[in-house]
Amino acid sequence: MAKYVINTLNRKSKINREIYGHFSEHLGRCIYGGFYVGENSPIPNTKGIRNDVVNALKKIRIPVLRWPGGCFADEYHWMDGIGPKEQRKKMINTHWGGVVEASFGTDEFMELCRQLECEPYINGNLGSGTVKEMQDWIEYLTFDGISPMSELRAKNGRKEPYRLKYFCIGNENWGCGGNMRPEFYADMYRRYQTYVRNYGNNKIYKIACGPNSDDYNWTETVVKIAGRFMDAISLHYYTVPGTWHSKGSSTKFTEEEWYITLFKTLKMDELITKHTAIIRRYDPDNRIGLVVDEWGTWYDVEPGTNPGFLYQQNTMRDALVAGINLNIFNKHSDKVVMANLAQTINVLQAVILTEGEKMLLTPTYHVFDMYKEHQGAELVEKLLLKTEKKSAQTKYTVPNLHESASVNADGKLHITLCNLSLSESYRVETEIIGKKAENVTGRILTGKMNDHNTFDAPETVKPQTFDKISVRQNGLVIEIPPVSVVSITVD
Ligand code: AHR
Repeated sequence: MAKYVINTLNRKSKINREIYGHFSEHLGRCIYGGFYVGENSPIPNTKGIRNDVVNALKKIRIPVLRWPGGCFADEYHWMDGIGPKEQRKKMINTHWGGVVEASFGTDEFMELCRQLECEPYINGNLGSGTVKEMQDWIEYLTFDGISPMSELRAKNGRKEPYRLKYFCIGNENWGCGGNMRPEFYADMYRRYQTYVRNYGNNKIYKIACGPNSDDYNWTETVVKIAGRFMDAISLHYYTVPGTWHSKGSSTKFTEEEWYITLFKTLKMDELITKHTAIIRRYDPDNRIGLVVDEWGTWYDVEPGTNPGFLYQQNTMRDALVAGINLNIFNKHSDKVVMANLAQTINVLQAVILTEGEKMLLTPTYHVFDMYKEHQGAELVEKLLLKTEKKSAQTKYTVPNLHESASVNADGKLHITLCNLSLSESYRVETEIIGKKAENVTGRILTGKMNDHNTFDAPETVKPQTFDKISVRQNGLVIEIPPVSVVSITVD
């Protein structure tokens, strides 16, 4: 049994829509085959971009999409990806499988975001690109007037400037982005960002490359040296059940690995708390935001697939990982301004998998769908009064339940609740202050721990109506089964 009090009168921070963002890298089949099939493909497309994928992502209200990497970003020379496709230089993707490619570039990415009706988030090349290259990219995208780059853009078919808000200056520059020390990166950041200009009404939100996981020294050094030149700093943290050498299978895992995975994913809460405490020492006015622009599970690739393509399946375990992390971001929405799941299609914790013309929605996709009402809503105060159990199967003890709650502009209360236990259902008594519990509806995603969707059985895991909710005078009583993610709306 567990008891909560949800006080809808005590509004906390606004949950930025961008917390529900995604990440698409030139990696494996994320862009090619995933988003982009080319105009001549028999797969239904608009300007080469798959219609089925666009429709599915619009349904979960994708707010922002990050591109072109990842590690790929720091070796991407954007000028190689514009102009007539047959004349574009072929580029080798040295990080990811050594494949040669050229047909998806800046204009295609901006077209993709237009179709998705989401904000573009571009990651610039600080590792191997020049200052001029970065400056020209911003000019090409956003300059409204006569200039070499705006004329080049017009020549490529786009007269009007694009609107670009989010721009990150380098990716993982402590590793694949140049193996820099934080002091060196911080100075490079100061230099490069100088030339990331605001043209006309376009105002760029500048994001600095942040730490890997718990590298607190990176955060402290970069914010101390360069904090006043940035709007936000990023954080990357992946949930790896095993070691980087042997990460574990995405579908064949033990009960112990289930709990290890959830235990490790819960570390996100501590990372956000500690990194922001450091940032606040140099930024007491709470101006600098945190952008968790890579998060999610990372397993061994599916047997028989290219190791450089990072293709993995997605089970109920991933659904729980998604539910927990999205709850964490909601609860830290005073600090976390954006988050981007890695990666949208066919790579790591994807929301969509494709095989030729076939497309399936993963359990993680369904969690984003069930949580979408939190986008733009206000986090409300919630107190956990009593909980009886923790799932302590191993030293990796996790709380049995994990939740967040928000109220949107129409006054609707939205509660999302995860049951992390593999074996037990819980009765959850929820007192609601400031709102009558009328018109209550619920959805549930549940199954066995390694249930997943395949191209032969694409709907093994999908949300169902949830009716184990009883309305009481001052709130709700919910019976939540094991291995489940639930969303409840009180109208
Ligand atoms: O998402 C896969 C890779 O993980 C990205 O390219 C890189 O930034 C991170 O190490």
